[in-house]
Amino acid sequence: MINIGVLGTGYVGLVTGACLASTKTNIVTCMDIDDSKIELLKEYEMPIYEQDLELLVRQNCHDYRLFFDWDIPGCLDTFDVIFIAVGTPTAADGSVNLDYVQSACNMIREYCTSRKVIVMKSTVPVTTHEKMEDWLGHKHTIISNPEFLREGTAVYDFTHGDRIVVGTVDGMPDPIMKAVYTDHLDKVIWTDNASAEMVKYASNCLLAAKLALWNEIAVLCGETGANIHDVKTGVGADSRIGPRFLLAGPGYGGSCFPKDTRGLHQMFTEHMKGTKYGKLIKAVIDSNDYHKSQTFRLLWSATLNSWRADMKIAIIGLAFKGGTDDVRESPTHALLEQMDNQLADYETVVIDPVATELPETRKPVELTTDLVKGLKGADVVVLMTEWQQYKNIDIGFVKSLMRGNIIVDARNMWSRAECERNGLVYYGIGC
Ligand code: UDX
Repeated sequence: MINIGVLGTGYVGLVTGACLASTKTNIVTCMDIDDSKIELLKEYEMPIYEQDLELLVRQNCHDYRLFFDWDIPGCLDTFDVIFIAVGTPTAADGSVNLDYVQSACNMIREYCTSRKVIVMKSTVPVTTHEKMEDWLGHKHTIISNPEFLREGTAVYDFTHGDRIVVGTVDGMPDPIMKAVYTDHLDKVIWTDNASAEMVKYASNCLLAAKLALWNEIAVLCGETGANIHDVKTGVGADSRIGPRFLLAGPGYGGSCFPKDTRGLHQMFTEHMKGTKYGKLIKAVIDSNDYHKSQTFRLLWSATLNSWRADMKIAIIGLAFKGGTDDVRESPTHALLEQMDNQLADYETVVIDPVATELPETRKPVELTTDLVKGLKGADVVVLMTEWQQYKNIDIGFVKSLMRGNIIVDARNMWSRAECERNGLVYYGIGC
């Protein structure tokens, strides 16, 4: 049996802990300094919306393989392996704030009397493992094990993901980590700590760059008469590129891509001073920031000639993507803020099945889970989040609820032809 402790029950820590506990030879305790969160988890109250998570937590708690505890000093020394899954937010200067990582290391240094395997799960700048050696007093074994879980499908990704990257001091397999991942050994890629740390940034930044360029190409399609759906079919057929991650949208958001692109840029600034390297990732960041206004620009031109004092704008989707309640860097937040700053009187209603956190705006924004209520009397419907339950909706029914006839589809989720057949005027991103 491997006795595992997970420090931090945020999105990464909770999913990782719950999934690791499914391996029969692992016993996992998820810990957090927020004792109220731990008490709620003991009652199976999930702090995040994530498909299959609650069921997994219930099962593994019931089988006595998963526990929750807030008494970190009291239990830290009982573990063989400690995963660190604390937040690594962006600091004011764009760098990654490692304060929470450092305080986790301080606790381990203070309360662990025997040598432990310390696994870094949070995304940290390359070379952070060297800092951790100092923070941990050179007394423990440091493993770099980045996560690649997509929100909304994280539990599925844990068992069906493409790879598990494990970085060790000498790049050689570590026997305890082999035991931790015994059910998934065929997926493990062994490497050194720095390379493992870099894999995470390189993966997310390549995906972000692919999306940013794709969104620009989609906008250009709209200007030139090309159709992004057909272009995707043609481009995606090239096996070197592939069809995935080629859905044009309102700009990427979430907890990873925006933070990791900024983090990589900061690393270039720090390690490659005086060179021209790092400009490409900066361009990706700037492109996505600019593209996040594209939906507002579409809305503006769509309503230019039909604006009315009591305009009702219904926005479908608040979360940064479908399948999650996460609104971090959500394009809908950006849209609501732009509307608030730049439009005169209007009524807004946001429809989302699970997300609830609205940005602070001067003008009131109504939030509902009820699609019919939200769409009733709308002059404009703006599609922002690709919730699958709204994908195959009867467009005629949508039209029957609306007062106006404008659709701004920032996810290219509905069909222009179908909308036009039902008397709607359709605006997409390049289609
Ligand atoms: C991402 C990575 O995929 C994952 O491996 C990593 O560990 C965490 O960050 P996540 O942020 O949950 O996962 O979502 P993902 O599905 O990758 O989407 C990221 C953003 O890109 C979202 O805003 C999404 O809407 C957008 N996106 C994704 C598109 O606009 N088009 C696409 O084709 C794919």
